[in-house]
Amino acid sequence: MATAKKKVYKVGIIGAGAIAQECHFPGYKKDRRSKVVAFAEPTAERHDEIKERFGKVEGYTDYKEMLKNEDLDIVSICTPNAFHAENAIAALKAGCHVLCEKPIATNLKDADKMIAAAKKARKKLMVGFTHRLFRGPQKCRQLVKDKKIGKPFMIRVRFAHGGPYPSWAKNAWFYNPKLAAGGALLDMGIHAIDLALWMMGPIVAVNGMSRTLVKKIPVDDNALLQVEFKNGSLGYIEVGWTSQPGFSGVEVYGTEGSLICDYIKGLQLCEGDASAGGDGSAKWKTLDKTPLKGGWDVEIKHWLDIVEGKEKLEMNGKAGRDALEVALAAYKSSDTGKKVILGK
Ligand SMILES: NC(=O)c1ccc[n+]([C@@H]2O[C@H](COP(=O)([O-])OP(=O)(O)OC[C@H]3O[C@@H](n4cnc5c(N)ncnc54)[C@H](O)[C@@H]3O)[C@@H](O)[C@H]2O)c1
Repeated sequence: MATAKKKVYKVGIIGAGAIAQECHFPGYKKDRRSKVVAFAEPTAERHDEIKERFGKVEGYTDYKEMLKNEDLDIVSICTPNAFHAENAIAALKAGCHVLCEKPIATNLKDADKMIAAAKKARKKLMVGFTHRLFRGPQKCRQLVKDKKIGKPFMIRVRFAHGGPYPSWAKNAWFYNPKLAAGGALLDMGIHAIDLALWMMGPIVAVNGMSRTLVKKIPVDDNALLQVEFKNGSLGYIEVGWTSQPGFSGVEVYGTEGSLICDYIKGLQLCEGDASAGGDGSAKWKTLDKTPLKGGWDVEIKHWLDIVEGKEKLEMNGKAGRDALEVALAAYKSSDTGKKVILGK
């Protein structure tokens, strides 16, 4: 008896810059369930780069033409932030499942429209919150959920690097307020905020300070957020485009232990009393020496599992919107010098 041929999802990618080339193109290519058949990219030199790196694939300069001409099942959106909503809504209307890069959009109205478009089209909309797919944060969340550290009362998230230029982004948009809608806070902070929400639950109040401290750019290059969670616990988020990673990662403190997930040094669990002059009962256990395993390497597999209904869609439109709401509240707080209460 002949076995039924497995469906291969036809994929289109909108925006063929750095994240498309480092995560999306290779991820779809290595998974037999998918094939990138087309991409849309206005910059001509990128077309040659893509064909050289990823082989035969139809290139368009206008994403609308791509959606019209190709019978796609899935679209990845890898354009500058300001285009995410327009691209995603068009792809959903064309009947595609959509994996949209973070931040979901640049304002909450657009995020709401994207969520409504996915619902109307009965298609899946996932946001690329890559940090949730690193092994370290995943283990931390599981241990928090399993009450391994008792009641968590504080989270700290810090991410820093030298910024998107000169080594990362292919086009000059990250420092353009119209296209990016924010700087380090919206770019890296959105990952940190998402991790905090994912581990601790909803945020009800935000104090933010976003500043341009070092680079001569019209968006923020450093930001600090103090957040209060609905469950009463507190959070501290620090992101920057102008310093070394240093401590990069997540720490969660609970009534019965602490989780220190240093992205470079490893994930440690401390149980017992670690305070100076304490009872000396602290026990440190290394749970994972390579907490950065996963991420982009597994993102597309995870996404295809979701499209196939094998895994639950958690990095959904609502998660994207929730993180964006906190980031925008932090900018507002920074501008006004006042704490912003969410949901008002
Ligand atoms: N999940 C992650 O870890 C991660 C990492 C980096 C970037 N990102 C996100 O990915 C998105 C793209 O960032 P990047 O670093 O790849 O930037 P990039 O500049 O390298 O790539 C963006 C590409 O989009 C193209 N583009 C611009 N306008 C377009 C349009 N109207 N239609 C189609 N293509 C268009 C540009 O020419 C460029 O090639 C951003 O939203 C960014 O926040 C996510």
